[in-house]
Amino acid sequence: VAPRVDVVTIFPEYLAPLELSLIGKARVSGLVDLRVHDLREHAHDRHRTVDDAPLGGGAGMVMKPDVWFEAVEAVVADDPRDLVVLVPTPSGTPLTQAVAARLAVELGGLRGDHRETEPADRVGPDGLGGLPGDGGDGTDGAGGPDGDGGPEAGRNRDDAAGRDGVPRVRGLVLCGRYEGIDARVVEELREHPRVSEVVEFSLGDFVLNGGEVAAMALLEAVVRLLPGVLGNPESVVEESFGDASEPLLEYPVYTRPAEWNGRAVPHVLLSGHHAAIRRWRRDASLRRTAERRPDLVRRLDVARLDGHDREV
Ligand code: ADE
Repeated sequence: VAPRVDVVTIFPEYLAPLELSLIGKARVSGLVDLRVHDLREHAHDRHRTVDDAPLGGGAGMVMKPDVWFEAVEAVVADDPRDLVVLVPTPSGTPLTQAVAARLAVELGGLRGDHRETEPADRVGPDGLGGLPGDGGDGTDGAGGPDGDGGPEAGRNRDDAAGRDGVPRVRGLVLCGRYEGIDARVVEELREHPRVSEVVEFSLGDFVLNGGEVAAMALLEAVVRLLPGVLGNPESVVEESFGDASEPLLEYPVYTRPAEWNGRAVPHVLLSGHHAAIRRWRRDASLRRTAERRPDLVRRLDVARLDGHDREV
């Protein structure tokens, strides 16, 4: 059984890019089962109305709870797995690499690697780890031995992640438009016996016209972490946030020619001196992070910094 995610939207065509590139290939080769559904199929009236005026007044329209709930029930009827419901909204908790990695572990039916990477006391409200999760990179493959490693970090980890690479849960993304979905839909789903978790997530402190682009961002972040999707799993670890315990921005990268337009690449990268290159990259990451994301620097684990790090 492939990891499965269903997306419900009033603009199925908006998600057409999920047929391209890495995700498109993963779908064709059966590494992930992604399905997109039209919310309007579940509207009742001739005009296929999905929204209504906000109670209490105000601008815009609110999506109707009955239409949404019927759509959810219809979409999930064909497969008995429990659900992780994902709702993009600017009022959600921040989507982070740690959240994406945890979802990849759960949706992929992976064991997770039980690394203790996000101690609760270092997770701020605006943190990389806005949700419980172990930050596992999800690339250590399915079907590993049943670890007797650390305590289960995520809620419902036992239910969600099989020990055999068989997903116990499926994802369901609800894309709202307008002023959002009537809040009772999420309330109802949180208490639904088949729902193991509801995650209302935000891409950041800005407002999109609807959840579709955010759903695509989430899917891209999660699907690339599923086993077999990336050719080179190491690139997952090296990139920004790849190591959730040390959230640093990635260092700048260069390719040939070594001099272009009068600009030379940093000399050390041509030296063949691997320790020096590692040191240069780490310095560049630290400097870049300090400049662009001081919030991340404050959360670095002091115990893991060496003397040279401190000088940077
Ligand atoms: N829908 C509208 N704005 C959004 C945002 N910033 N993140 C996620 N979903 C959204």
